[in-house]
Parts: sequence; structure tokens; C-alpha cells
Amino acid sequence: MPALSKIITVESVLAAATVGILTTVAVYWYQRRKKNRLPTEWNPVGIVTRLYIYPLKSGHEIELETAVCTELGVMIPPFGNLHQFRDRSFLIYNEADKKFETARTSSQLVHIKITAIDENHVTLNAPNMPILTLKIPNAVENRTDMITQHFGEKIPTIDCGDEAAKWISQYLKNAESGFRIGYNDGARRRNIDFTHQEYKKAYPRLRSSGMGLYSDFTSYLLVNQFTVNDLNAKMQDAQVTHRNFRPNILIEGAPPYAEDNWVWVKIGDVVLYEVKPCTRCVLTTVNPETGIKSAVNEPLRTLRKYRMLKDVKT
Ligand SMILES: *[C@@H]1O[C@H](CO)[C@@H](O)[C@H](O)[C@H]1NC(C)=O
Repeated sequence: MPALSKIITVESVLAAATVGILTTVAVYWYQRRKKNRLPTEWNPVGIVTRLYIYPLKSGHEIELETAVCTELGVMIPPFGNLHQFRDRSFLIYNEADKKFETARTSSQLVHIKITAIDENHVTLNAPNMPILTLKIPNAVENRTDMITQHFGEKIPTIDCGDEAAKWISQYLKNAESGFRIGYNDGARRRNIDFTHQEYKKAYPRLRSSGMGLYSDFTSYLLVNQFTVNDLNAKMQDAQVTHRNFRPNILIEGAPPYAEDNWVWVKIGDVVLYEVKPCTRCVLTTVNPETGIKSAVNEPLRTLRKYRMLKDVKT
């Protein structure tokens, strides 16, 4: 699949981040091994212009002014006693086979918005649906299901209950059941040692500790706006925005594809390291505003012409 953007991932949590239009995020470093020593010299490459979090995998984004950067990805900064979302901490899964569901097959998922109402409750909002109020479940009192993600990876997932299941089933297939909503409290890290062996061979910096909660691969995704602009210039029948690529961090000011060569990225006092380029799936063809898939399969059709990645065959 074509690669557009770099994935950035971090290992230790040190601080929170403030992002304005021109400034940036927080601090991390990764120095466990000698060869991973933090660089001592940095060159300015661009500025951060947008920060996003996606509390529900495949769901609507929330734009942030400030992002707390954690090992598990972006977290909403503390505000009063509201629940602090983490990136991709909720997901939809199939009741019968416990497989995860995404907007690749259910593109209307991109319309679901999650809002915190207090420390333990959030609401889910979707077109033509009543508002669902959800009490955040926990691993002690509630059921844990093993959900299957890509490559058969199993992720322990706390079930959000029958009312939530009914709500999401009605929204997705006009049925009383079929889908459930799951929650990941981040207590257990993912283990990709057995499921992602081919990828680990191809990308030596890819490891379990760099994975997000329910993200396909790593805990952060960075997109370069000028790369998106260049892609748009190459497309005749369609245009996309950076939102088609669902970044956590959007950068401007760097030449198109400059990000291909960045191993370390320092934003404010947060240091991120590159794990792998992001192979882009059909979700990039879904208009984030309308939930409608591109009739001409863009931007993938154009990316295939010049950005095919020799990624692993799975
Ligand atoms: C989780 O467990 C608590 C305590 O038993 C219960 O009140 C709540 O309804 C459960 N939530 C779900 C989603 O099952």
C-alpha cells in the first residue's frame, strides 16, 4: 500500500504539551539503548499547526489546542473533572466473532462524536440517533472480551454494556444487536511479538511498547501538510484534506515528503521517534465530513502511482 505519512511514537512520559499556532507539544525521550541515544543537535523543520485525538477508532476527531503526550498516544489535557480521553480508547466490535469494526467497512462510523460529561461518563452522538450516555466501564466490575484486530492480534477490551450495544447496532445496521462498544483502559500493553513478526523484521523500531490502544500500529501519526498539497496537485478528479489521513499531529513548513527522512522529531520538549511509514488504507478515501467514499478511489489511486511502499506481504 502507498505511504503518505510517518508514524511517530514515544516511549516515556515526561510532560504535557502546549500547542499554539506556532509552537508545540511536550517531552519524551528514548534512550534505553546506546544506538537510540537522543540526538544532541536539532534542525528546525516546520511548525505544528493542528493536533487531533480520535477517542473512538474510526470515529470523529476532536481538535485540540493542547495535547498531553503519553506512551499510549495523545490524551486530552485535564479540564475540571471531565473524563480524560486517550486516543483510540473506544472501538466497535462484532458481537458474534469479536472482530473489530472500522470505517473501512462501516464508513458512517466517522460521524460518531464522543464528549466527556464528567469523570466517569461520556456521551455518544451520531446522526439521527438519540444521545447515548455511557458510564465508562472498568475491568473489575465489567466483562472483558478478547477482541481480534489486524493479523489476529487479541486485545483485552472492556465491554460497554447492552444499552451501548443496542445503540451502535441500531446506528450501523438498524438492528437490536450485532455490534458492541469496547473500551481500553490502557492497563495492559499490547503484545505484537507473535502477530507482527514480518513487520518487526521490516521495521526494527516497531515494538509492542510503541503501539497505541486500538491504533493499527503506533501511538502517534504525523502528517506533513505540504505532502498533502503535493498529492492534491497530482490528482485530477479529486482533492483531499489532511483530515483524510487522520493525523494526531499536522506539520507545516517542511517540503513535501521531507518527513520520510526524519527519525527523531522534537516538538517543544516532546521527543518522538519514527517507527514506520504509514501504509494507507481505504479509510483515506472516505470524506471525513460526509462519510462518503470517493467514487474514483482517491487518494489511493494516485498514491499507488508514485508512493508504493515495499512493505511486508501479509
Ligand atoms: C459495570 O459494572 C457495574 C457494577 O456492577 C454496573 O453498574 C454497570 O452497569 C456495568 N456496566 C456495564 C457497561 O456493563
